[in-house]
Amino acid sequence: MEKVVLAYSGGLDTSVAIPWLHEHYGLDVIAVTIDVGNERDFTAIREKALRTGASTAYVVEAKDLFVKHFVWPALQADAVYEGTYPLATALARPLIAKILVDYARQEGATAIAHGCTGKGNDQVRFDVSIGALAPDLKIIAPVREWRWGRDEEIAYAQQHGIPVPITASSPYSIDENLWGRSIEAGVLEDPWVEPPADVWAWTTDPERAPDDPVYVEIDFERGIPVALDGQRLDGVTLIQRLNALAGQHGVGRLDHIENRRIGIKSREVYEAPAAVVLLAAHTELEKLTLSKDQWDFKQLVAQQMARLIYDGLWFSAHHQDLAAYVASTQRFVTGTVRVRLHKGACRVVGRASQFSLYSHSLATYDRGDTFSHEAAVGFIELWGLPLRTQATVQPLGAGSEPPPSLLPPGGGSADGEPATRP
Ligand code: ARG
Repeated sequence: MEKVVLAYSGGLDTSVAIPWLHEHYGLDVIAVTIDVGNERDFTAIREKALRTGASTAYVVEAKDLFVKHFVWPALQADAVYEGTYPLATALARPLIAKILVDYARQEGATAIAHGCTGKGNDQVRFDVSIGALAPDLKIIAPVREWRWGRDEEIAYAQQHGIPVPITASSPYSIDENLWGRSIEAGVLEDPWVEPPADVWAWTTDPERAPDDPVYVEIDFERGIPVALDGQRLDGVTLIQRLNALAGQHGVGRLDHIENRRIGIKSREVYEAPAAVVLLAAHTELEKLTLSKDQWDFKQLVAQQMARLIYDGLWFSAHHQDLAAYVASTQRFVTGTVRVRLHKGACRVVGRASQFSLYSHSLATYDRGDTFSHEAAVGFIELWGLPLRTQATVQPLGAGSEPPPSLLPPGGGSADGEPATRP
């Protein structure tokens, strides 16, 4: 019997997929569950896969790989999709795809299956990533194929002895990993409705957060966070600690309208305490250590990077090239950032670096000023030269022409006396 490697979460969809793949495609199912920081009982999930008919079931611990190869490079790039989303789910998909391909090879499988629907970004990311890594493997997306309603799915589950949660399970569709938690569906589908309290799991209501702010110092080395308050931590622990601390202070709630790759606008709610804090801190350290030109250009790259990660193009030549640029920009992004967390707000309040380009003697208005004020005059003379030249021959038109004069008609006198009218 040919084999299929199934990305197994333990939920209803991927559980039903096990007998369905067997009956529909005659495949022997190997379940692979990947831990990217989605706090679950992985032993129970593995047992459920076997009970449901998988011939083999693996649990793969991938938190370190996720942080090292996906989260940190995305942080170094300042990759945030459409100004809001730190890309937690989007970053985990290519890693999961890679692990599925590895297991497919090891097991001699001819296909990979995943539980994505036909409306989301995740199917795009899985299909494109698997295709890039292993073009010969067949991809099966049972949920996209069977197109059942909930009742039909439950009926199929019951026929096959798959436990269906009796209590009305969460009305939301949730995905989570170390870098963030995403909540969709239910009442959130109305963009006018404020997210109800039950969507939040990692963050305290900012109004109920502690009255006193907390300060945290984050050390970066070459754009990678390495310590909190002077204590060196591995990446996974650092993110977990910061998720807990910032979450407790109500930091990291996000709510926006997002453009999916498949052309739909959707309302997306996220909790990403550590990501929000680290992105703010990292960006601020770059403002201290990158030149104006580096900083300006890097923001363009950040946007491109966020977009290609979102769109499932991690395993692309374009990504490889942008990643090389980003890595190069990080060589002096080393230093410490001090952040204040208070009732939902994360504010960078201090930054320091041995490679800082900030010069106090150049910036100060006090004594010790070494900036050449005379040179400024000559600089401005030349900076403004093309405008003065052009103004003598080409008057400005709509859009940049000066606003109308406020002087009364007939003109005013210099001492403020009203003008005498003819
Ligand atoms: N909108 C986010 C994204 O496209 C979150 C997707 C969450 N996925 C899920 N299967 N619930 O990355």
